[in-house]
Amino acid sequence: MNRATPSKPDLAVEIAPGVHWIGVLDPGLRSFDIILKTANGTTYNAYAVRGSEGVAIIDTVKECFADDFFRKLESVARYDEIRVMVLNHLEPDHTGALPELLRRAPQAQLYISTRAKQMLKGLLHGDSLDFTPVNTGDTVSLGDRTLSFLHTPFLHWPDTQCTWLEDAGLLFSGDIFGCHFCDGRLFNDAVGDFRFSFDYYYAHLMRPFRDRVLQALELIEALPIRVVAPAHGPVLRDKPQHYVRRYRDLSISTLRNEAGDVKTLLVFYLSAYGNTRVMAEAVAAGAEEAGGIRVSLYDLEVGEVAPFVDLIEEADGLVFGSPTINGDAVKPVWDLLSSLTAVSVRGKLGAAFGSFGWSGEAVAMIEDRLRGLKLRVPVKGVRAKLIPTDMELEACRTLGRELALHLAGLADNKIIDMAALA
Ligand SMILES: Cc1cc2nc3c(=O)[nH]c(=O)nc-3n(C[C@H](O)[C@H](O)[C@H](O)COP(=O)(O)O)c2cc1C
Ligand SMILES: [Fe+2]
Ligand SMILES: [Fe+2]
Repeated sequence: MNRATPSKPDLAVEIAPGVHWIGVLDPGLRSFDIILKTANGTTYNAYAVRGSEGVAIIDTVKECFADDFFRKLESVARYDEIRVMVLNHLEPDHTGALPELLRRAPQAQLYISTRAKQMLKGLLHGDSLDFTPVNTGDTVSLGDRTLSFLHTPFLHWPDTQCTWLEDAGLLFSGDIFGCHFCDGRLFNDAVGDFRFSFDYYYAHLMRPFRDRVLQALELIEALPIRVVAPAHGPVLRDKPQHYVRRYRDLSISTLRNEAGDVKTLLVFYLSAYGNTRVMAEAVAAGAEEAGGIRVSLYDLEVGEVAPFVDLIEEADGLVFGSPTINGDAVKPVWDLLSSLTAVSVRGKLGAAFGSFGWSGEAVAMIEDRLRGLKLRVPVKGVRAKLIPTDMELEACRTLGRELALHLAGLADNKIIDMAALA
């Protein structure tokens, strides 16, 4: 293997025999896809694989960096040699230079995931593009070497796939195992310490799909990998298995729930005058009475939502209590609910309750949001006008009890929420 460590890769860099990095550096970038901070900029990695019967290009770069990409490509291959073009997913940071590349190499056949077909329509808006959809196990020959494909959907787009070059033990992993870390020394054993960036990238892009990560790892861990070549950040040639293992560690729950296999219900609330608080206590008490589940009660007035996101990821049911203030639920509830994009809450049970003075919109607004997040909302929320009456508190206990029965699978009126099935 070539162990060169260029300090400024303004040229193509050989990462394995006949395989070149032809990506670009974007050191000035400070935020990516709006949601990610990129203190160290990023790279858009693309690769050229030379076989005895032609060249394959794996991914391209963001459109504004196309000139740099073509210059590197031209230093390792002629356009008429390019027979194969692989896109590991269709996001514009890797497909920006594709239209121009296909103009320059019209004979190249495009290989994309079976799931990419629908997405391509949305990107091309009526233009047609000839392509071959591929799935796990499909291969394409370059004569003396073969590329094969691994279907790894939703990491982080529906059409994500990896491409495997067996003779070099090289996995072109797309965004998987990537990170936003720009360092011209390119290889993981030569660049600065990028561990924080690797974990941060996982937390924002992969964590919401951690079940899919575990499915993808089943395919990836079976391979005798010598190099992982991701679409962003360092090429992982030194102990690549460490990074594969890190994904597994990050995807399995490390927080042991003392309740064991018992289902868990979290009750969150805020309360200015104590009205919503007594309702929260009644919901929790009702759930506790039903037995068989672990119930936790949290006051969101502490303001920190991040610690609760970890708990929510592991929980089975979530109940939110908020008074109505100026026609809305209160901000900490929305803050917590908007933080849930980092985890998967689809299919969990949800419910809402709260005290109000005159209009009382909060409960319905929270229920709508829970359904929007694809939670199941099987029990109607409880509202109490100002100080809850004994009957209203009993309704809160019933809400808790019914949720507990649903969690334990003992409810008679199992409501199927269509949103959960969408
Ligand atoms: C600043 C303020 C704005 C309010 N706005 C509304 C409102 O728009 N609609 C409503 O139904 N109640 C409104 N209320 C009344 C509260 O929802 C009501 O006092 C409720 O009982 C408070 O519950 P808590 O003790 O759990 O905070 C408002 C109260 C305050 C203090
Ligand atoms: Fe992406
Ligand atoms: Fe990307």
